Amino acid sequence: MSRTNVRAAAAQVCFAVIDNGQSLSRELPRHQQTLANGKDKALLAELCYGVLRQLVQLERLISDRLQNPLKGKKRVIHHLLLVGAYQLYYTRVPVHAALSESVEATRKLKAPGMTKLVNGVLRQLERERPELSQDSPSLTYNHPGWLIKSLQQAYPDQWQQVLEANNQRPPMWLRNNASLQSREQYLQELQQADIAASAGDSQDAILLEAPTDVANLPGFDAGRVSVQDGAAQWAAELLDAQPGERVLDACAAPGGKTCHILERQPQLASLLAVDFDGERLKRVHQNLARLNLQAEVLQADASNLNASYDGEQFDRILLDAPCSATGVIRRHPDIKWLRRASDIDELVLLQQQILEHLWQWLKPGGTLVYATCSVLPQENERQIKAFAEKTDDVRIEAITAGSDTLGWQLLPGKAQTDGFYYAKLVKQSVPA
Ligand SMILES: C[S@@+](CC[C@H](N)C(=O)[O-])C[C@H]1O[C@@H](n2cnc3c(N)ncnc32)[C@H](O)[C@@H]1O
Repeated sequence: MSRTNVRAAAAQVCFAVIDNGQSLSRELPRHQQTLANGKDKALLAELCYGVLRQLVQLERLISDRLQNPLKGKKRVIHHLLLVGAYQLYYTRVPVHAALSESVEATRKLKAPGMTKLVNGVLRQLERERPELSQDSPSLTYNHPGWLIKSLQQAYPDQWQQVLEANNQRPPMWLRNNASLQSREQYLQELQQADIAASAGDSQDAILLEAPTDVANLPGFDAGRVSVQDGAAQWAAELLDAQPGERVLDACAAPGGKTCHILERQPQLASLLAVDFDGERLKRVHQNLARLNLQAEVLQADASNLNASYDGEQFDRILLDAPCSATGVIRRHPDIKWLRRASDIDELVLLQQQILEHLWQWLKPGGTLVYATCSVLPQENERQIKAFAEKTDDVRIEAITAGSDTLGWQLLPGKAQTDGFYYAKLVKQSVPA
């Protein structure tokens, strides 16, 4: 039996993310490692994701039942109460298990003096079963107010769908390795393995009916398939690299799109994968190795590549820009609470600096694909509009599949993908 109490671990993860601004993708695996079996690891993930998805409602349920807010060292117990309330309201965990495990977790968290309070608040909640409040859009949609306002402005007819999609569990998408087999062949193999799946809109995308462990996927270790959302898979397809070309993947880590570009076009002259973050670049090396692919990997600042690189210009550049990640909230619900309204202007400036700098690195006639996993127009359509207004030698190429001339905004949940933005910029040989 595992010695770590799953509820105590969930409270610690939520405390680290919500109060201390740590990322879920860092905290969750750290705590999962302390659990012995897969069922407990999955329960821990379910509790943490759930609390982060439904946080505003849970905060209301708990704060209405606490006479005094829990402060300082007691904050972790506040998070344990959120985890408890989540189980009572949003899961099929039996009530007695939710209550007794929460009390046990209080002891594990070295707060034996608070077991009465934890038991009391959760029992009261169970007894009263108050209706979930719909007093404000923040409560209804479990998002911070600033983000709701931004989405209302950007999508007057669709903001509710975006918010609802953000709180859904995302499906699992695969990317067929086109250099090794056709998507149809791989779909057949999945069928033989009793894994229900269908083809997505982009060429290599496969949508699984239900998520599964990668160990169950035929040929995963041999690199015949990778896990990647359907929206992210448009990047390599839109870049459309040709044999003999020099390609730059400017913000490459962890390397999902780098690998896809190489799978789609094995006859490039070269591919340079750049990222600022040395730790994240290790993942690029790991992904290349698993898929048996080769690229030049460079730690450098894409807004000042000249400082670290003195090669020739590139035929194609993918700029998968650092962004608010507001399109991938369904996969990373912590983004709702980590991101601040004030971050957006800084990100927009960084994207602008990188885009303007990389434009010098593009050959005349070359193509730059600008991508973000954001749904905010400042980072997307408005960014590209501003760039086009001050750049003589750019032509914005319309992207098919329903795009307008200023790029293509995919919204989360539509076509079952994440939210993404793409713009295709061509450098004219002679400025217009
Ligand atoms: C959206 S992620 C890239 C995801 C990647 N393209 C993939 O498909 O796996 C953005 C990346 O930009 C990197 N980044 C941020 N600022 C940068 C800069 N000034 N120069 C280079 N990379 C930067 C971050 O470290 C992060 O890895």
